[in-house]
Amino acid sequence: MSLRQTMGEWFYEISKTINADYFGIFAFNEPILVIKSPKLLKSIFVKDFAYFEDRTPVLSSKDELASMALFLQKNPSWNRARTKLTPMFSSGKIKLMYPLMTEIADRMTHYMSEYANGTVEIKEVCAKYSTDVIARCAFAVDAKSFEHDDAVLRQIGRDFFSPKLDFIVRHIASRFLPTLMEMFNICLINPQITNTLRDIFFGVLKQREQLSTRKENDFVGLLLNLRTIYKDDPSFSYDGMLAQSVQMFMAGFETVASTIAFLLYEIAIATNIQDKLREEIMNNTGPSESITYEAIQQLKYLDMVVHETLRKYPVLPFLDRRCNKDFPVPGTNLTIKKGTAVYIPLYALHFDTKYFPNPHKFDPERFRDKGKINTEGLSYIPFGEGPRMCIGNRFGLLNVKIGVVSILRRFKLSACPETPIPLTFDPKVPTLSSPVGISLKISPLTTNEGKE
Ligand code: HEM
Repeated sequence: MSLRQTMGEWFYEISKTINADYFGIFAFNEPILVIKSPKLLKSIFVKDFAYFEDRTPVLSSKDELASMALFLQKNPSWNRARTKLTPMFSSGKIKLMYPLMTEIADRMTHYMSEYANGTVEIKEVCAKYSTDVIARCAFAVDAKSFEHDDAVLRQIGRDFFSPKLDFIVRHIASRFLPTLMEMFNICLINPQITNTLRDIFFGVLKQREQLSTRKENDFVGLLLNLRTIYKDDPSFSYDGMLAQSVQMFMAGFETVASTIAFLLYEIAIATNIQDKLREEIMNNTGPSESITYEAIQQLKYLDMVVHETLRKYPVLPFLDRRCNKDFPVPGTNLTIKKGTAVYIPLYALHFDTKYFPNPHKFDPERFRDKGKINTEGLSYIPFGEGPRMCIGNRFGLLNVKIGVVSILRRFKLSACPETPIPLTFDPKVPTLSSPVGISLKISPLTTNEGKE
């Protein structure tokens, strides 16, 4: 509450001192059960999901937009919407968006080449890239973040995740002070932001509905297809579709940008890992060919590096569920009462020495044999798990990988005097984020290092 430490790190410090499968905390006067045991976690996320279907944030009854977004939807409407939206995120559909993503990755490297042999603030570069990708896929617009520093959608992303009082109050109230949300009719997303996004989205819908053939290479087209099938479902009303697109924008831009930035930060310091990763990329793509969707899936070391980044920097450092009927915990005399908030200290699990020895070391080798991960339940869950896990995980991973591959094929990265070492996290935002820019030195690859 005092915003001196991130929730993720706070749970980590407490978890270290408690040798038990679970413990309790109070947030104001609300008791919260915190689960430490990977086995028990598997029961809550997967096996006994029927008792834990919803997340805990509470919205004002007038906040119609946020309550229609999958992340915040409650049951039974979440269940219906998730079933219908899931096919939008299949490998086949995502593959159709691949050319849009690579085109934006090219813009990113073009932009970076202007800073070659100098330093670049990599968090901002990655935010521009992920804003443009998600704007193109979820809003079907060109955000032009690389052309204009104050491009509208980039500015919205900055405002939404910036540690301003407005943002802090909305988030703390929805989590811990639900009566305030209702009493003052507080919306989770600042209505100014929603109105701008509504204008953009409805403009695109109008254009799309006039087309004789339907486009399928972005989420707008896929949502419109679903609208023709589920005509009477409010999830596919104009506002329902807007809610899903706004949420994809919010859920997809910061997560992807931060993951790429943390990854590049680590390999700018661990240059041996960077060299090994670049070698794999060059061996599989050749210096001048553009990288194909299939080739990206073959890059095993890249996959290991991305997973180690998500272990050390899980963008959502804790997860939550609300118990919806009394749950007798198997093998214990504990009953989790209906209505109890359950928190999952994801960051603490990823740093538990029992599952990840020497956890502060960035070591992709941990993921060489994926069969060794999550053997005792769930101790590695950067995308959550079970029916309510991240619906955008494939899309997000692909985005991250395209970004990293595009950069490493053209540039070498290294730390410079301005690089923040060690990296700290901003306690004023719920996601894991550095409070300062991450400056890195970039040098173009020489011809024999594989430059195009
Ligand atoms: C590296 C990128 C990403 C990470 C690390 C990430 C992580 C997460 C996590 C931890 C959750 C909560 C899971 C749970 O409670 O069990 C989540 C949920 C969600 N994510 Fe992601 N995410 C990423 C990218 C994306 C993208 C690109 C999209 C959309 C385009 C997206 C859309 C969502 C949605 C809609 C939910 C809520 C799902 C539901 O409640 O049914 N995410 N994500």
